Amino acid sequence: MPIASTPRFRLASLALVSVVTLGASFATRMAGTPVLPETPYDYASAELPLHLQHSSVLRWDNTPDDNPITDAGATLGRVLFYDVRLSQNETVSCASCHRQEHGFSDPRPLSIGFEGEPTDRNSMALSFARYDRTRRFFWDGRARTLEALTLEPIQDPVEMGMTLDALEARLEATAFYPGLFADAFGTPEVTSDRVAKALSQFIRSIVASNSRYDAAREAEEELFGRPLAGLTEQENRGIELFFGEGRCEQCHSGDMFVGNGLLNNGLDSTFTDLGGGGRRDPLGLKTVTGRGRGAFKTVSLRNVELTAPYMHDGRFATLEEVVDHYSTGVRISPTLDPRLRRGGRPIRPSFTDDERAALVAFLRTLTDTTLTTDPRWSDPFVSRAPAGQ
Ligand code: HEC
Ligand code: HEC
Repeated sequence: MPIASTPRFRLASLALVSVVTLGASFATRMAGTPVLPETPYDYASAELPLHLQHSSVLRWDNTPDDNPITDAGATLGRVLFYDVRLSQNETVSCASCHRQEHGFSDPRPLSIGFEGEPTDRNSMALSFARYDRTRRFFWDGRARTLEALTLEPIQDPVEMGMTLDALEARLEATAFYPGLFADAFGTPEVTSDRVAKALSQFIRSIVASNSRYDAAREAEEELFGRPLAGLTEQENRGIELFFGEGRCEQCHSGDMFVGNGLLNNGLDSTFTDLGGGGRRDPLGLKTVTGRGRGAFKTVSLRNVELTAPYMHDGRFATLEEVVDHYSTGVRISPTLDPRLRRGGRPIRPSFTDDERAALVAFLRTLTDTTLTTDPRWSDPFVSRAPAGQ
């Protein structure tokens, strides 16, 4: 009999599970002290696998000259990311809505902020922000850099409800922070600018590059060769559909599977999305952001299996539902992207059941499960059970 199914082992693991769960829910309610490794984890020199060290990926690196990733900076970012002190009543952290086990997104269609209010939109995955080709953040693209973005959720009246003054005062008064700021920036001074920088370093360090698709690509001699010997016939059929009839690759492009802007992918024929405020695109691109246009960020599909539900409002619970949308559900509207229309009609390829299954099978090859357990990106406020127990 395999050891895992003996009653004694099951009982022991059950006990362990409940201790861990108890610890986790306790930690989300109490602002604690982080447990950090003696030597910081390696964030700065982590490299992409060879097939991603390519100009089609690297040229989108949005790391600014004045904020390179350092081990101490990303460590501070990690602590801030998981600290409920960043919210007014110390109940939510960034990680409440960006959960590691869900590819740093939220399994709830709308997230819940510090006072129990729902957010306007579905949370977004954080596993490729460093190489994000859109160069815009949030569903409506209103933030242009991570450094500009990271202080927004902290001050958002639904999400965390803090002022930057209150934030600085609170962190300054917390015993372990000045030391972490000194490690990261040379002096113990706590400023919101440094908070933004450290959080951005941490987020940039999270890159999902360890999927079955990556392993299969890595093993190929030819750079963009297909089919991929490391994937199944069904998965390769999914790739053909993704690059061919499905037109998916025309928007979710390259090895990061990310788009180049805000597009309307035909979810609605009238637009009721709130928020965004109808801002004009500063570059004057034809897809302007905001209310009334139905255009949203073309997000990366890396780790998409983990980041359900889908779309800016979390309307689809499964990848099958997403494929059904592109198969038969695309709706015409004045701003529907040209890649999804022919003349006045939406393109609806009507995939067969086998094609639908193949597309979903391919999307699942983009899952990097190491990202969900890597201690560099895990919650430092949850103390681990002592070794050997
Ligand atoms: C209450 C839930 C909640 C909290 C807390 C929260 N977020 Fe978010 N996050 C969201 C939602 C919802 C969106 C999408 C918002 C939108 O598009 O308007 C988002 C979007 C983002 C994005 C954009 C990703 C992209 O690819 O465009 C980043 C980065 C981000 N959050 C980082 C953070 C950081 C850092 C913190 C903590 C300081 C944080 N979030 C706290 C819910 C939350
Ligand atoms: C015209 C450009 C375009 C094409 C073609 C396209 N997409 Fe998208 N896709 C988008 C945009 C834009 C979004 C975000 C829309 C929103 O949330 O309102 C999106 C969202 C998604 C999402 C949800 C991601 C998330 O995290 O919520 C998945 C999955 C997806 N697309 C898969 C596909 C597949 C599979 C195909 C091909 C059958 C495809 N897309 C074709 C533009 C496109």
